[in-house]
Amino acid sequence: MSRIAYVDGRYVPHSHAQVSMDDRGYQFADGVYEVVTIRQKRMVDELGHLARLDRSLRELEIERPMKERPMRQIMRRLVTLNKVENGILYIQITRGVARRDHAFPADANAVLVVSARPTRPHPAAYIEDGVSVISIPDIRWARRDIKSTSLLPNVLGKQQAVEAGAFEAWMVDDAGDVTEGTASNAWIVTKEGHIITRNLGTEILSGITRLAVLKIAQESQIKIVERSFTLEEAKQAAEAFVTSASAFVMPVTQIDGSAIGAGKPGPISQKLRAAYIAFMELEPLISNELE
Ligand SMILES: Cc1ncc(COP(=O)(O)O)c(C=O)c1O
Repeated sequence: MSRIAYVDGRYVPHSHAQVSMDDRGYQFADGVYEVVTIRQKRMVDELGHLARLDRSLRELEIERPMKERPMRQIMRRLVTLNKVENGILYIQITRGVARRDHAFPADANAVLVVSARPTRPHPAAYIEDGVSVISIPDIRWARRDIKSTSLLPNVLGKQQAVEAGAFEAWMVDDAGDVTEGTASNAWIVTKEGHIITRNLGTEILSGITRLAVLKIAQESQIKIVERSFTLEEAKQAAEAFVTSASAFVMPVTQIDGSAIGAGKPGPISQKLRAAYIAFMELEPLISNELE
């Protein structure tokens, strides 16, 4: 059976899933998106992702194309139609199709596309040895809290990471503080065992995984400080890791070639990763329809 996608009201074979060349997402990156993990036929933090999607839409004054319930039904149907046990669900909403003009069109309807695909498990070496990150200047716009499809600086940053043989690039602002990764939030653990991650604001995306990990850390009585940290502080940290819907909690053992801590995934990163995986597996199994 071929892969099925949802495009603006229709379920279509993925190979025929197309939008208009006048879609403002295509011409202006005038749209927002979400990536939801599917873990063992469970949707992870669905409502958190939908709440962030709503917020992104509100911030950009894009009217949502349908209510939450039918959208959740589409998401379920795509996971089952595509038989995804472990994978990701991609949701994108753009301002719609209109004659090209920068200002909002008077009469466009927002376009929703959804796709689902299986993903491979993380390579064992990533988890056993940790991954490396490089640092790059943060050249993005000032509203990084909006999960916009306008990702060119992130694309360029990830490409630099790939070319350097690194897993991720941490972006550094003009003050020398780490903002986040190109597709993940950045964390460090101090020698006292406190976890540090940048406080929320317009400078970073409020990661859904970040929120879940903060809650897990709190429940595990690990001290958390939400504040900025410099690249230098990160290089001197006992541990470092990144979080995202697709990386979960991924230990970082090298920043710009410097080993972090003992150069191996540390106990707090490992504990949080295991606890986050257990948390994902507590979600209810996906059924085709919402109850
Ligand atoms: C720039 C950026 N920061 C943080 C994250 C992590 O967010 P989440 O945990 O919701 O996947 C992402 C995810 O793609 C991202 O693109």
